Amino acid sequence: MGAFSHEITIIGSLKKTLLKNRIMKYKRFLITSALPYANGPVHIGHLAGVYVPSDIYVRYLRQLGKDVKFICGSDEHGVPITIKAKNEGITPQDVVDRYHVMNKESFNKFGISFDIYSRTSNKVHHETASEFFTELYNKGEFTEQTSEQYYDEERKQFLADRYIKGTCPKCSYDEAYGDQCEQCGTSLSPMELINPYSTISGNKPIKKETTHWYLPLDKYEPTLRKWILEDHKEWKPNVYGQCKSWLDDGLRPRAVTRDLDWGVPVPVKGGEGKVLYVWFDAPIGYISATKELTPDWEKYWKDKETKLVHFIGKDNIVFHCIIFPAMLNKADGYILPDNVPANEFLNLEGNKISTSRNWAVWLHEYLEEFPGKEDVLRYTLTANMPETKDNDFSWADFQARNNNELVAIFGNFVNRALVLTQKYYGGKVPQPGEYTQFDKETIEIYQTARQKVEHALEHYKFREALREAMNLARLGNKYLADTEPWKVVKTDEERTKTIMYISLQISAALTSLLEPFIPFSATKLAKMLNTDVKWQEIGNMDLLQPGHQINKPELLFEKIEDTQVEAQRKKLQDTKKANEVAAKELPEAKEEITFDDFLKMDIRVGTILEAEKVAKTKKLLKMKVDTGIDQRTVVSGIAEFFEPEKIVGQQVSILINLAPRKIRGIESQGMILMAENPDGTLRFIQPGEQTVNGSTIN
Ligand code: MF3
Ligand code: ZN
Repeated sequence: MGAFSHEITIIGSLKKTLLKNRIMKYKRFLITSALPYANGPVHIGHLAGVYVPSDIYVRYLRQLGKDVKFICGSDEHGVPITIKAKNEGITPQDVVDRYHVMNKESFNKFGISFDIYSRTSNKVHHETASEFFTELYNKGEFTEQTSEQYYDEERKQFLADRYIKGTCPKCSYDEAYGDQCEQCGTSLSPMELINPYSTISGNKPIKKETTHWYLPLDKYEPTLRKWILEDHKEWKPNVYGQCKSWLDDGLRPRAVTRDLDWGVPVPVKGGEGKVLYVWFDAPIGYISATKELTPDWEKYWKDKETKLVHFIGKDNIVFHCIIFPAMLNKADGYILPDNVPANEFLNLEGNKISTSRNWAVWLHEYLEEFPGKEDVLRYTLTANMPETKDNDFSWADFQARNNNELVAIFGNFVNRALVLTQKYYGGKVPQPGEYTQFDKETIEIYQTARQKVEHALEHYKFREALREAMNLARLGNKYLADTEPWKVVKTDEERTKTIMYISLQISAALTSLLEPFIPFSATKLAKMLNTDVKWQEIGNMDLLQPGHQINKPELLFEKIEDTQVEAQRKKLQDTKKANEVAAKELPEAKEEITFDDFLKMDIRVGTILEAEKVAKTKKLLKMKVDTGIDQRTVVSGIAEFFEPEKIVGQQVSILINLAPRKIRGIESQGMILMAENPDGTLRFIQPGEQTVNGSTIN
C-alpha cells in the first residue's frame, strides 16, 4: 500500500511539472544562445552544444506560430581578446571586427535563424550594461573590497590572471597561468604561482592594492537555492547537479569589475581605469540585443507571460543559473529564465576540441569543403548531440549518417514517392481508394509522429526528437518497400493510386516535421511538393489533395565518398603531427668551447659515390665518399630517412679526422654531418651550390 501510494504521488508531481512547462502556457518566447567570444572562428562544438539545439527549438516555436525572439551576438570583451591582439600587433577592436563578421556569416550559412546577431562592443550594449551596473550600485547592492593584486610596474598596469605566468605549485610546470596550470589542470590564483612574471614585460610583478565591486552572492544564496533546487527540479540533471554542487559549497561574493582597459568602463566614482568583468557585461548583451531588435523589448524581459530560455554549454552554467539571475533579480522587473538547457561537450575523433591546438572542424572551412551540405552537419551533430554526456564526432559517423540515413532512408523515400508520381500521373496527386489493414496501421503510426516529436522538443531532448522525426521517414520508406507500387502498377492501378497517395501525405508531413532539424532540405522538398504544411496539420491525410500538381523532383542528398572523409582525417593527422613537433623541446645549448676547440675539427665537402644498406640492420647505411683527399667508407645510422639510390651523387659535409671505429664489423672512417628535426627526422648539411670536393668547412 505504502509503495503504491508513493508511486502515485510521484506520477502526480511529475504531471504537474510537465503541465507547468508546457509551451501553451506562455504568450511569448525569448530564446537566447550564448554569445560566442569573438576571438576565433566557430567550430562544430559550438554548433552541437548551443546553436543547433536553440535553432531547432526556435524553428519549432515559429512553426507553432508563437511570438518568439531568438537572440545572439558576439561576446567581444575579456582578456583572451586583448592577448590575441597583443600577439598579433593589432587592436582588440581589430580582433573582434574580424571574428564578429566571420562568425555571423558562418551561423547564417548554417541556417541558424537568429532574429539578431549583435555584439557587445557596440554603443547600445555599452549604455545598457553601464545603466545596469549603475542601477545596482545606486541600490547599494555591491560591496566594495580592497585587495592586493599583481601589478606590472614598467607597464603601469594591473595584471589579469592570464597575463601572469609562473611555476605551478602542484606539478612544477614553469609556464602555468595565473588562473590555471595547463599541464596538470589545477585551477590556481596568481598568488599561488612560484616565481611569477608578467607576460607583458617579462618582469617580476609587485603586489599593489586595488579596490573592486563585488556581487554578494552569499547574501542571495537562500533565494537562489529555493528558486533552483525547489522550483526547477525539471532542469536537466547536468544543470541541476552543477547548481546544487555550487550552492552546497557555499556562494562567495564575486568581483564584477576588473583593472583592464578593454571592456565597458565602470561608470561610477572611483571606477576610472577599470572595466566591468566580462561575465557581468556579456549576459546583459542579451538585453541590449533585444533592445536593438525591437522597441518592444521590455515585454520580452519584464512580462511574466514571457518564457525565457538560455541555451548554453556546460562551462557557462554557473553564470546563467546563478550569477546572471542574481543580477536580474536585483534590477527592476526582470523575469528569470524558465530553463537553461546546457549541453556537455563535443569531442573530435577522440580528442578534446581545442582552438590553440587547431583540433577542430571550423565552420568556415566546412562550408567551403562541403558546399550545400549544411544540413548533413546539422543532422549529424543533432543525432550525436552531447545532451547528457560528452560525445564524439567522427568523420566515419558523419559519412554513415549521411549515406545510411539521409540518403538511404529520407532521401530514398521521398525520391521514390515523387518520381513515381511524376511517372504514373504526370505529377498530379492521385485519388486514393479504400485503405487496407496495412495502410491503416501505417497511417496510425504516422498520426502519432508529431506528438512524439513535440514531447521530446518541449523537454529539450533533441536527439530523441530527431529520431522520432526520422522514424516517420523510415515508416514511409518501409511502406513503399513493402507495398512495391512499381510492381503493383502492372496489375492494379487503383491500388497503386492509394499507395502513392499515402506516400505523398507522409512526404508532405516531413517537410514540416523535419524543418527544425534540416531546414534547407525540408524547404527544398516543400518546393518540390509545391506545398506549405502547417505544424498542426502534420498527421492529416489531406495535406495534398487529389489533383494537386507537384514539381519536378530533384535529389535531396548525395552519397559522401570515402575519399572525402579520408581527406578530412588526413587533415587532422597533419594537425596532430604538427602539434607533436611543436611540443617537442629543442635541446639546451651546450657548454662553451674555445675557438681552438672548434678548429680541431676537420670538416670537408664530399660527394657520396656509393650507398647501400648494411645487411640485417634497419638503420645503417654504408657509403663510399669522395672527400677530395681520398675515398672513404662511412657507416651511418640514417637508413630510415634516405633511399641509397637517391643519395648517390649528393654532396654532404663530412668530419674526416674523427677516430675510425668499427660498426657491425665495418670500419667507418668519418662522420657525415646531419641536422636533426625535433621530430627526429634527419637531413644532410649540404653546400648551397656545387662545391669542390675537399673544400673546408669552418
Ligand atoms: N562568451 C562566452 C563563452 O563563449 C559565453 C557568454 S554567454 C553570455 O563561453 F551570456 F555571457 F553572453
Ligand atoms: Zn601544474
